[in-house]
Amino acid sequence: MTATVPPFAVIPGAQVQRTLQGREKQIVELVEATYRLHGAGGTVNPPSYFLRFPDRPSSRIIALPASAGGQLQVDGLKWISSFPGNVAVGIPRASAVLILNDHGTGYPFACLESSIISATRTAASAALAADWLGRGRERPARAGFFGAGLIARFVHTFLAGTGWSFGETGVYDLSAASAAGFRGYLERSGAGGRITVHDSAEQLIRSSDLVVFATVAGQPHVTDVSWFRHHPLVLHVSLRDLAPEILLGSVNIVDDIEHCLKASTSPHLAEQLTGSRDFLHGTLDDVMAGRVQVPADQTVVFSPFGLGVLDLAVGKYVYDEVARSGELHVIEDFFHELRRHG
Ligand SMILES: NC(=O)c1ccc[n+]([C@@H]2O[C@H](COP(=O)([O-])OP(=O)(O)OC[C@H]3O[C@@H](n4cnc5c(N)ncnc54)[C@H](O)[C@@H]3O)[C@@H](O)[C@H]2O)c1
Repeated sequence: MTATVPPFAVIPGAQVQRTLQGREKQIVELVEATYRLHGAGGTVNPPSYFLRFPDRPSSRIIALPASAGGQLQVDGLKWISSFPGNVAVGIPRASAVLILNDHGTGYPFACLESSIISATRTAASAALAADWLGRGRERPARAGFFGAGLIARFVHTFLAGTGWSFGETGVYDLSAASAAGFRGYLERSGAGGRITVHDSAEQLIRSSDLVVFATVAGQPHVTDVSWFRHHPLVLHVSLRDLAPEILLGSVNIVDDIEHCLKASTSPHLAEQLTGSRDFLHGTLDDVMAGRVQVPADQTVVFSPFGLGVLDLAVGKYVYDEVARSGELHVIEDFFHELRRHG
């Protein structure tokens, strides 16, 4: 039997964006199926590798290798940079590529612009968690966005695109320009409801039933447990905002326990403080499978480390859609030395 080398395609951000736009419900379903596959052992998702630089301590590039079985049958790698200083010079913090590898031969067959894929899978995971963790409690009418950059915008788009609407949307950001930019996005989105830009973190949290953290904070800056007395649902997407004491007074759900208890995330700090993992209630997959019940009368914190298999799932979806439309940009002769002995 002989195999052929798959053609190698490059998928630019414009094609990725066109493919994913308006498909929030499908992508949330895809992310749900991928979490279930991961929970059932149908993936390989080793720890992310953090490349850090002594001369640029706030920056990093992370490698997320992964393999997905089930219906997906694809391997690959996301390689994503975070340079927070970019925002001050007018370009996004994160930039990324995703490489997809063929399941049968291992050959890379696509390179996709992946900052959009990454933001999309992150927002879809947040919307999925809001749905599952919010069941049994009153539907939050007041949302608060703590940190108002690109990820906050994607999370809002995914919440709105999967049926959420808020009577009140609060915004808090250390940067007045970011808060104003996000407010402008909210107004243009037509989501409706009242928009309030808060000038204190406390005010934002106390006046929100659903709180989305999307800052770039490297260590906890929210420490007062009393701000959470109204027991909001918290999507802790940026992972390092909450002091361990806040987690210890909450119901804690993560995407993957081994992944999340690393790299000085708030759950990692809580483990270091208590010397145990008892403060964790389970994973989102445990909740979806009914293995873990989420009480409606306590603060619930979802801390998603972000899994490479989600990038693979969304990337493969984009690849398949672009291929189906006949618009793949194939790079001819990308793999060239194909006869072993010449
Ligand atoms: N868990 C995941 O899977 C996942 C995936 C993607 C991104 N993220 C995280 O999401 C976060 C946001 O990413 P982004 O691309 O939107 O970044 P961004 O730079 O576009 O926006 C971050 C915003 O947070 C604000 N901010 C920083 N520190 C703050 C503080 N202490 N209080 C209030 N506001 C503060 C900044 O002014 C900025 O407007 C990053 O931490 C990133 O690592 C997580």
